[in-house]
Amino acid sequence: MIISSTTDYREAARRHLPPFLFHYIDGGAYAEQTMRRNMADLQDLALRQRVLKGVGQVDLSTRVFGEDFALPVALAPVGLTGMYARRGEVQAARAAASRGVPFTMSSVSVCPIEEVQPAIDRPMWFQLYVLKDRGFMQNALDRAWAAGVRTLVFTVDMPVPGARYRDRHSGMSGPHAAMRRMLQAVTHPGWAWDVGLMGRPHDLGNVSAYLGKAITLEDYVGWLGANFDPSIGWRDLEWIRESWKGSMVLKGILDADDARDAVRFGADGIVVSNHGGRQLDGVLSSARALPVIADAVKGELTLMADSGIRSGLDVVRMLALGADAVMLGRAFVYALAAGGALGGEAGVANLLDLVASEMRVAMTLTGARAIGEISRESLVSAGLVA
Ligand code: FNR
Repeated sequence: MIISSTTDYREAARRHLPPFLFHYIDGGAYAEQTMRRNMADLQDLALRQRVLKGVGQVDLSTRVFGEDFALPVALAPVGLTGMYARRGEVQAARAAASRGVPFTMSSVSVCPIEEVQPAIDRPMWFQLYVLKDRGFMQNALDRAWAAGVRTLVFTVDMPVPGARYRDRHSGMSGPHAAMRRMLQAVTHPGWAWDVGLMGRPHDLGNVSAYLGKAITLEDYVGWLGANFDPSIGWRDLEWIRESWKGSMVLKGILDADDARDAVRFGADGIVVSNHGGRQLDGVLSSARALPVIADAVKGELTLMADSGIRSGLDVVRMLALGADAVMLGRAFVYALAAGGALGGEAGVANLLDLVASEMRVAMTLTGARAIGEISRESLVSAGLVA
């Protein structure tokens, strides 16, 4: 199979993964309207072609939270990344490090912090949810800091899990889910090793590290489901702000008032995000929310954005709308899950190369030599999305 874009990686992942895993990654909440709008609203933004600007060599590098980035991109935290390729968190982290960008480890990982951070030569970022089990949160923060993590991504848009129709249909959630997952994995061609994660106790990432024992995948998902905390408010985050000495980024902000509250709270950054359309269907796409938020808080904290980015052109569009840097979610996961020689670490590294080369073309043809030269002037229709 010839790979030239995220669309190809998505198709490779669809062929390689058991259906319940592909749909878990690919799907969104309810009728998936926000998920579709994330992509459509970005792609509808017309880049403003400028010619004969003598652009020459384009510089994609930037600095965020005192860290050098080879391009203004980080890998988003994605739960169960270790299910999409063998020791998937390690593979994705190595690919990101090799391309000079950060990998964000989800707290819902298969590999523990202590396995992933030593495998790379730059600090990874660590993502945490607000969970009822504050002991788990403290334990994860302590272990992340001890391992060398300095950037904490705190996800605030998951006080309750969003309902995803596809997961009900595929057997990823709902009654008899565990049984169906096992059957699908066992019967799927080429999917043997991960069956080891199904049904029997396994060393499962940060939760096993905290509980001090091996657990089954079903226990893991059950533990997480019982731990979402819908009562969470700004005050519940203060102890984290005070005890975490590194940068703290709040992920899942979609409203300018919340962005202003994040500034008052003392966040170092925010990620404008609707969780890739996986939480509340019907909310604004990131591309529509971002310019309003940029008008409210740009310059007061680091402004990141995700949801719907599928190419280097989309990265340039998000920067034009006001983001300092972006996160890639499904785009890198499809590459990781592409299987065989196409996927894994090599797949994610290649995906980042594709994004970088697309960015170079977009910047050259919009007349931007460096990341700081991308602005709303790089778009024809910026005014239409606000
Ligand atoms: C996610 N996302 C996510 N976010 C987070 O903070 N913690 C997590 O554990 C997860 N898990 C997760 C699993 C899967 C399969 C997906 C696709 C996404 C959301 C993720 O960080 C990011 O916000 C979105 O993926 C961005 O949207 P796109 O780029 O996928 O459209």
